[in-house]
Amino acid sequence: MRHLLGIKYLAVEEIEDILNVADNFKEVINRPIKKVPSLRDITIANLFFENSTRTRISFELAEKRLSADVINFSSSGSSVKKGETLLDTVNNILAMKVDMIVIRHATPGAPVFLSKRIDAQIVNAGDGTNEHPTQALLDCFSLREKLGTLKGANIAIVGDILHSRVALSNIFALKKLGANVRLCGPVALIPRYITELGVEIDYNLESTLQWCDAANMLRIQLERQNIKYFPSLREYAMQYGLTLPLLEKINKNIVIMHPGPINRGVEITSEVADCGQSIILNQVENGVAVRMAVLYVLANSRGIVKR
Ligand code: CP
Repeated sequence: MRHLLGIKYLAVEEIEDILNVADNFKEVINRPIKKVPSLRDITIANLFFENSTRTRISFELAEKRLSADVINFSSSGSSVKKGETLLDTVNNILAMKVDMIVIRHATPGAPVFLSKRIDAQIVNAGDGTNEHPTQALLDCFSLREKLGTLKGANIAIVGDILHSRVALSNIFALKKLGANVRLCGPVALIPRYITELGVEIDYNLESTLQWCDAANMLRIQLERQNIKYFPSLREYAMQYGLTLPLLEKINKNIVIMHPGPINRGVEITSEVADCGQSIILNQVENGVAVRMAVLYVLANSRGIVKR
């Protein structure tokens, strides 16, 4: 593995390898001394051209737990605002002897574009509506912890599939790991040809919940919607919002997930987000171990890991 550009490019064995390494790092970050020297003398730049809370902090913590040197860049307040191109920005940062870059960008394909033009290793931290590979890996890690295995598990992804990089990366990862995937949401928010990826579609939330072992409730990405896909958020919540009465009605102990940030009262109510079946904060916790594993596996592929 030279880069992590998307789950689409990973073999099943590579995904399983990352999840197994993450198991070890989860044990490490629960020790009193949470740091290991694996990436000592390696410099990693976190380049965030789009907003982030979880992914940015999680990568920074993962890098620090691995003893890497860390640089944080966000496009707001940078020379991007003066018109500097992505490639010039990255090349200038690399000139300062940076070994790896973690990049979040609003343009689908930005990490692949860079991978063809620069020498450093690249980790995709979310590229527009395309992929969010580390989110899918941490989701699979969290599901595996909860369900034991993903082989044969029924996983629902609910909401704004059309604009969701989390959905696409999860579909690739879950299918590769042997899960059954069902998508649920308004007709206008489910791409017409997505069944070619081997997923089922169900436009009814209740029957989707009856079917699944776990439901990943996605955020409505209003910032990527320049036309109306449903009449109002209130109507969306009435049809596709996960509420406690609905959960009680299906009377089944399904696992509830959300990649964050949550629109409380839209895709999920506070009562459900904070209930015992929710693993939303476990997902965030596991994100650090999974990102440590990704960085470790990438560094290991270049023989630069310190033992
Ligand atoms: N899940 C996720 O990508 O959250 P952030 O946008 O806060 O990084």
